[in-house]
Amino acid sequence: MSKVTVVGAGNVGATVANVLAHQDIAEDIVLLDIQGDLARGKALDSWQQASIDHYSTRIVGTDDYADTKGSDIVIITAGIPRKPGMSRDDLISTNAKIVTSVTESALKYSPDAIIIVVSNPLDVMTYAAFKSSGLPKEKVFGMAGILDTARFRAFLSTEVDVSPKDIQTILLGGHGDTMVPLPRYTTVAGIPVTELVAEERLNEIVERTKKGGGELVQLMGTSAWYAPGAAAAQMASAILRNENRIFPCCVYLEGEYGMNDIFLGVPVQLGRNGIKRIIELKLNDAEMELLKTSAHHVRSVMEVFDNMNLV
Ligand code: LAC
Repeated sequence: MSKVTVVGAGNVGATVANVLAHQDIAEDIVLLDIQGDLARGKALDSWQQASIDHYSTRIVGTDDYADTKGSDIVIITAGIPRKPGMSRDDLISTNAKIVTSVTESALKYSPDAIIIVVSNPLDVMTYAAFKSSGLPKEKVFGMAGILDTARFRAFLSTEVDVSPKDIQTILLGGHGDTMVPLPRYTTVAGIPVTELVAEERLNEIVERTKKGGGELVQLMGTSAWYAPGAAAAQMASAILRNENRIFPCCVYLEGEYGMNDIFLGVPVQLGRNGIKRIIELKLNDAEMELLKTSAHHVRSVMEVFDNMNLV
């Protein structure tokens, strides 16, 4: 028996619920939004899709946290998205209040849930959920790295003209323009990407990846949802299936990579109880410098959150 709650029935939340339902692993998905009819409508639409796409996961929409009781996983997508010209960090004053109150409300009914944060600014919203939850660090983490590596993989796939399925990579750092894609840890079906793409071109693709979210905001006037939604669903699926898969996720570091008391993207193994293991890569000096710069940036936004005195 498994139950997943998705908080926020906007584009991202609705996509998470829809993609996860298609995987047919959870018995129940609850889509919750303060705009109850939006959640009820999107859930009903997804449930009607079940007989066409053949899944049994029952999706319901609600604005009442009581309906989320006993959830194994709570995925938080609530909050406002970016508009053109905004950075993810500009969202903090609004989204920090939303994320802390959503966490507290959800845990009232599902005190043992695993929490996956998707709201932006991602690293600091994960920190906010962690602080307000009182849960162990293994149970509160954020989705960013799967999305950011998916962008890197998509661009490389186009460049090399191979299926994105064959591109493997890992990425570190915050979910922002300081993120650290790692060409040295990137392969195309096992072939180091550095043998297939010239350094200069690779650097351009790394730069495009770092600003990948902003590119979509510019195109659409709001932030992306298909890849972000699928990425969060993939994390939930790895947990529900106890797959022990390795993904870059935003987690609390206590000494790993020489960092303490910070949420940052690093490779982890995901299983039934959440974060099973944090994987420490051997970084060269240049990569470590980039990671430190990213951590420095995330820390400055964490301070903004701390100064809001919400938890
Ligand atoms: C993005 C937003 C969702 O990167 O952070 O598209």
